[in-house]
Amino acid sequence: MIRYDEQAQTFTIHTKNTTYQMAVHPTGVLQHVYYGRRLRGCDLRGLIRYVDRGFSPNPDEAGLDRTFSLDMTPQEYSTCGVGDFRLPSIELALPNGSHTADLRYCGYAVAEEKYTLPGLPAFHGGGETLVVSLEDRAAGVGVDLYYGLWEEYDLITRAVRVINRGGGEIRLCRCASLCLDLPAAGLDLVTFDGRHLAERAPHRAPLLPGVRSVGSVRGASSHQHNPFVILCEHGADEDHGLCYGAMLLYSGNFEASVERDQYDNARLVMGIHPYHFSWTLAPGACFNGPEAALVCSPDGLGGMSRQYHRAIRRHLIRDSRPNTRKPVLVNNWEATYFHFDKDKLLSIAREAAALGIELFVLDDGWFGKRDDDNSGLGDWQVNTGKLPGGLEALTPELEKLGMSFGIWVEPEMVSEDSDLYRAHPDWAFQVPGRKPSRGRNQLVLDFSRQEVRDHVYAQLKAVLSSAPVAYVKWDMNRNLTDVWSAALPPHRQGEVSHRYVLGVYEVLERLRTDFPHILIEGCCGGGGRFDGGMLYYTPQIWCSDNTDGVERLRIQYGTSFCYPVCSMGAHVSAVPNEQNGRITPLATRGIAAMSGAFGYELDLCQCTPEEKAEIRRQTETYKRHWKLLHHGDYYRLTDPFADGPYTAWEQVSPDKREALVSLAAGGAQAAPPFRLLKLKGLDPARSYRVNGGAVYGGDALMYAGYPLPLMLGDYWALQLHLEAVE
Ligand code: GLA
Repeated sequence: MIRYDEQAQTFTIHTKNTTYQMAVHPTGVLQHVYYGRRLRGCDLRGLIRYVDRGFSPNPDEAGLDRTFSLDMTPQEYSTCGVGDFRLPSIELALPNGSHTADLRYCGYAVAEEKYTLPGLPAFHGGGETLVVSLEDRAAGVGVDLYYGLWEEYDLITRAVRVINRGGGEIRLCRCASLCLDLPAAGLDLVTFDGRHLAERAPHRAPLLPGVRSVGSVRGASSHQHNPFVILCEHGADEDHGLCYGAMLLYSGNFEASVERDQYDNARLVMGIHPYHFSWTLAPGACFNGPEAALVCSPDGLGGMSRQYHRAIRRHLIRDSRPNTRKPVLVNNWEATYFHFDKDKLLSIAREAAALGIELFVLDDGWFGKRDDDNSGLGDWQVNTGKLPGGLEALTPELEKLGMSFGIWVEPEMVSEDSDLYRAHPDWAFQVPGRKPSRGRNQLVLDFSRQEVRDHVYAQLKAVLSSAPVAYVKWDMNRNLTDVWSAALPPHRQGEVSHRYVLGVYEVLERLRTDFPHILIEGCCGGGGRFDGGMLYYTPQIWCSDNTDGVERLRIQYGTSFCYPVCSMGAHVSAVPNEQNGRITPLATRGIAAMSGAFGYELDLCQCTPEEKAEIRRQTETYKRHWKLLHHGDYYRLTDPFADGPYTAWEQVSPDKREALVSLAAGGAQAAPPFRLLKLKGLDPARSYRVNGGAVYGGDALMYAGYPLPLMLGDYWALQLHLEAVE
């Protein structure tokens, strides 16, 4: 619900559980008044303090009043160079050489549908819009602040549009998507950080004076930091306390910074990373920044996550068959790497089909000259040496087995040893006079250029049209360096990284439009581009190249703070694990992968009859419970980083009639203590039958706990299926 109070000059947004308010100060500055638990009272301007404080300058409109300073007052969208010394949201390079921005309110509009953003991912389908317009009169620049909301999910999206209304060319050097000023006292910041093979580990710390910043200048959102952060009360835990989540729907360079200032205000600024960013705006031109999405929850971290999961599943992910189960897949990467032929692939597929697996995914190595990772990228034609007759000959054989077909591509990349590079060396990013650095011995194509995108897409389209393809895995196996485009003049080189991301989005959109039935899985060396931007185009993303069942529990745990289970690609692989050498029971690997977009990635021909029987059981379990696993409300029961005896999580059906509890133990322990696992989210008034046997009260399971069996061995796992008894 959006309310404008003309007299008080306040804008108030109410969602189911939260209230957000801003106010136009008599100077025209748009102040941020309140964001938090839902409040009845509507004029909250009394929360803002006016005090004369040394070294905090006053704007001209304040006259002799020294109590109003941009340096102290909470704002909706912070400016720079004119009196606020804290984190700026916008920076303009004006024709006269000044780097300033000064914004005043100039109007608003409300719409019944949520806004859209041209060429950019955004929450969609219903919602409401508030646009608050600001202007920098001296610069001739308009800044429209967009707010989109879904009351039910406590979701408020934000986006910014900058328009050059003046007569000269200006450059935008910084344009955050979100600025949020809150009282800092008692707040923690949680970030999700890591590396290749160990993505999105939560790190939580109180806000200290100064700035804490995470981000990426790698051209992708990165394995190292995720464009999702949380501000929460010190005492907030899974079930209690106020939490603010902030996600950026963007897959390139980003920055999320929080400053705790001298008077204990916190400012969160999130958007495209300002490193080497500048966008030239000719007179009349405008710039749309990527969308940010806030969820504020009074119900702890778990409550916040569940709201994100619901909103992302229903209003971000575009799934042509949302209520249909995704096929269980087998991927040949860890089974064969580059060394396969048609017979080998079909032998895996044959085993897979017999075990209930439904989709065969052909990974890297099927195209051009590609027997290792040193050549071939850019030549997206089937290598008929490995696959005689091409996909046209392979897919009918799969169809005979009852399996559909999926294929791996890495469209943004080029090998120097490729026909594409030999024909168009200038299509790869490189700075004149410098040798570009290689990553996995490959270079990055300049996707900011239309002709490059068109050429690559034409090749992809031909391959995907040559056979019935049901799934595409879109990979990206290095980060961007040597970012310079032969197609842009020097003063526009600061646009290249963003244009690259827009280019990737454009090709993905074409792929979706031309092949609406294809399920696209995103990937970037596993989880190096796991963000809300990609989820708009690729309903699932390969969560990590680390397929070890135990480490995966940590990665999927960290990922779950924002992203839903159905979006996390997760496969059972062979042991000893290829990445860390650990030997985990097959049952545990299956339970871990089932809480994700489920599949297998091992040579099924090498499995024993017992292993095959277990795999058949797993595919059956997944098929039986997929709705609960993917669409149930997700509860983290333990923190796998806390080194407790086990990791446990739970999915509960929205009507609370059914739940699935999964638990994976750590290392073996002699004479372990008796343990009770306290469940969550059940109906205390109902009784539940557990695994078809004993019946327990919902209240007993939540408040007393479920008595865990005493088991021997490392990393054992169990699943409890709960059904309400009439
Ligand atoms: C990346 C992906 C893997 C696999 C390889 C193929 O590392 O994350 O899953 O597809 O590329 O080269």
